[in-house]
Amino acid sequence: MLTTIIYRSHLRDHVPVTVLEDMVVAANEKNSKAGVSGILLFNGKLFFQLLEGPDESVRAIYQTICADERHHNVVELLCDYSPARRFGKTGMELFDLRTYDRREVLQTVMDKGTTRFQLIYNDRALQFFRTFVEESEIENYFEIPPADYWEFIPDTSDASVRTLHTRYSETCSFAFQPIIDPMARERVTLEALIRTPSGEPAQRWFEGLQGDEIYAADLKSKSVAFAMASALGLGEQSLSVNLLPMTLVNVPDAVNYLLQEIAANGLVPEQIVVEFTENEVISRLDDFTGSVRELKAAGIGVAIDHFGGGFGGLLLLAQFQPDRIKINRDLIRDIHKSGPRQAIVLAIIKCCTTLEILISAVGIEKAEEWMWLESAGVSQFQGHLFARPELAGIPAIAWPERTEDI
Ligand SMILES: Cc1cc2nc3c(=O)[nH]c(=O)nc-3n(C[C@H](O)[C@H](O)[C@H](O)COP(=O)(O)O)c2cc1C
Repeated sequence: MLTTIIYRSHLRDHVPVTVLEDMVVAANEKNSKAGVSGILLFNGKLFFQLLEGPDESVRAIYQTICADERHHNVVELLCDYSPARRFGKTGMELFDLRTYDRREVLQTVMDKGTTRFQLIYNDRALQFFRTFVEESEIENYFEIPPADYWEFIPDTSDASVRTLHTRYSETCSFAFQPIIDPMARERVTLEALIRTPSGEPAQRWFEGLQGDEIYAADLKSKSVAFAMASALGLGEQSLSVNLLPMTLVNVPDAVNYLLQEIAANGLVPEQIVVEFTENEVISRLDDFTGSVRELKAAGIGVAIDHFGGGFGGLLLLAQFQPDRIKINRDLIRDIHKSGPRQAIVLAIIKCCTTLEILISAVGIEKAEEWMWLESAGVSQFQGHLFARPELAGIPAIAWPERTEDI
């Protein structure tokens, strides 16, 4: 079995194009020894390369290429398996697109294809060649600076950073984590995350509940979230709370209960957003749709959490339109390196922009993930990179600051 990897990358600004010649000679030798075929396209700024051969060799070479300082923003576009080589000759061949007529270069690449494996236009790998040569996706090739371009220092001088010292309930507690707009230096909303009274994670809190009592407890816990947020000085900011979709369906008068508790804590419905997890919503969509209408009619916002993590996410946008979606961490992890994740998230952004649905990206851990998403048009973020959830408190936010020595 043969493995094919296709990636694109940017030549670093300080690297002269003349280094390519020596690099290609060395790569040609290394690839030949490893039984790998490499076709490299270069347009004066961007690289595009196909590597194919035995799985281990292709992956090993790709790893060294990823670590090569002469280029950056390496994005894997395709990793696939095929029964035969597209390009028979092992080694490395460079096509400098600046010296070719654009219309001829694809034909020239196809001519290099093995006769056994007829390169035809419905071959995915060849379609990637075409897209690169025709530059039809070029607006999505974001060039982001290295991670150390920014530093993240928690702003402990912020007056809203505080911790509660009173226990608000014997049954649960909450940790608070902000969703922020880093470039505008704004806190957009605060999410209340359920914890056990001693601060253990949500899963441990749910484990302590039996059968249907889970729904009543889920609903009741929100009064604790409202009370704590109010005591922390939420002011006019918005607060997100999580709710199991079936809590609304199973507990009689759930929306009225929420409204009473919101008012009892000096808050207004318009500043509350209820988040539901995508997977849980899909399993009982019809029952749930009526409850969402009630929430919306009461002025409470609705968000879909972990969007893109399950199976019906896009359909949810059609069936009931939330005010906000939070893109699942699995889609965001290392997004700056992954062509498929980039394509999915760009499609989600396009869809939500058309529907005027706000997007936030959660679980941001790396500066590059944040920078790529900012370039793609996302402006609201939540994650350890900026602030970890704080038990019974509002954490200091690490706003991105430009490092001085770059
Ligand atoms: C755009 C680009 C494409 C490259 N393609 C290959 C390649 O196909 N095969 C290869 O061995 N090295 C390639 N290299 C060079 C590798 O990154 C690395 O410098 C080389 O494998 C030598 O690594 P080593 O000194 O650890 O053996 C490429 C570098 C760049 C910037």
